Amino acid sequence: MRIAIIGTGNVGRNLGAALEKGNEVVYGSRDPKAAQDKLKGKNITGINEAAKSADVIVLAVPYPAAKEAIEKMKESIKGKILIDVCNPLGSNFEWKKDSQDSAAEEIARHAQGAKVVKAFNTIFAENMRTGKVGENKLTTFIAGDDDDAKDKVMGLARDIGMEPVDVGALKKARYIEPAGLMMIELGYAKNLGTSIGLKLVKEDKQQDAKHSE
Ligand SMILES: NC(=O)c1ccc[n+]([C@@H]2O[C@H](COP(=O)([O-])OP(=O)(O)OC[C@H]3O[C@@H](n4cnc5c(N)ncnc54)[C@H](OP(=O)(O)O)[C@@H]3O)[C@@H](O)[C@H]2O)c1
Repeated sequence: MRIAIIGTGNVGRNLGAALEKGNEVVYGSRDPKAAQDKLKGKNITGINEAAKSADVIVLAVPYPAAKEAIEKMKESIKGKILIDVCNPLGSNFEWKKDSQDSAAEEIARHAQGAKVVKAFNTIFAENMRTGKVGENKLTTFIAGDDDDAKDKVMGLARDIGMEPVDVGALKKARYIEPAGLMMIELGYAKNLGTSIGLKLVKEDKQQDAKHSE
């Protein structure tokens, strides 16, 4: 797949590096020349150009900048998968949403025609490279209204090394986004650092039944 990563910050660099294994990745930046200094040797273009050339677009910009970024590529995202990784926080890491819906739903309303999938927001950027903390595969919680789009994103997550879990329709991002904020609170306010992550554990009843036969 050809994947455009919009935003060349922490997530853009780390998730981009992970997705480069097995995909063609192009980076979309507000200032491609300046971004070349951060991402030496990478294919970096303007935002719309990157989105236009890709099958899947990852929106990796701060929540307050999401609408502006979408505006720049709105004709190029129609019919395509748009992965929303954002945590709806402001510049002081405060919860920024003042309505009850999720940032993902808000983004979907602006990204008319795109198949928006919420993913990766509960994983710290540096852990996106391998999808793991130590030997533990991290869970990434997925929400979206288009099943095929969701399957593709879950496939990308598996290829990186994560364990994707389908939480349901896009509006279920309302449950996923607060978990992203909780991780930031634990990592920074509670000083646990960023080598932490969420993992969904589940009893394998079928396996247990086989053993007891
Ligand atoms: N950092 C994490 O561990 C983490 C984990 C999960 C989810 N997230 C979410 O992922 C998104 C990106 O986070 P990040 O840590 O990569 O942020 P970041 O390091 O600040 O980078 C964001 C990038 O977005 C682009 N951008 C576009 N419009 C912007 C604007 N108005 N102001 C600032 N940057 C703008 C910039 O790239 P150009 O200059 O090239 O345009 C910038 O480098 C956020 O929504 C965040 O909540 C972050």
